[in-house]
Amino acid sequence: MQRSWATVCDKDEYLNPHKHWQSNISFAYYLKKPLNSGNIVFSFNENPNEIADKLFSYDKVQKGLLSDINNLNQSVFEIDALEDEIVIFPSKTAHSTLRNLSNEDRISISGDISIMLKNSNQFEHLLPNPNFWQKF
Ligand SMILES: [Fe+2]
Repeated sequence: MQRSWATVCDKDEYLNPHKHWQSNISFAYYLKKPLNSGNIVFSFNENPNEIADKLFSYDKVQKGLLSDINNLNQSVFEIDALEDEIVIFPSKTAHSTLRNLSNEDRISISGDISIMLKNSNQFEHLLPNPNFWQKF
């Protein structure tokens, strides 16, 4: 576990798309998640799970080539996590949050986890040997 932080999202606030480049696994635990306070959204636009870019897009539904857009063929995925739930995801997957439309704060605790060899010398690129990390 390399770092952890709290996020308080006031009314109308949201998080822009970003990635956690320095870790492998990230999580968000929702301490307070009022209705319509902004879900987490994952975006796969840079690495779509398809053989051709934008093969699965809504215009293909309009053209009758796809019957529907669903979780298996879309480039974004929204999770409606409830209060006291945790969302665990690959750190380098782009994610953001929707605007908080409630009158209450959305409060979450997030963190980043790195997975590495016990002895990372000569194997991990740009990662200091954990023996030199400061422990808290
Ligand atoms: Fe994040």
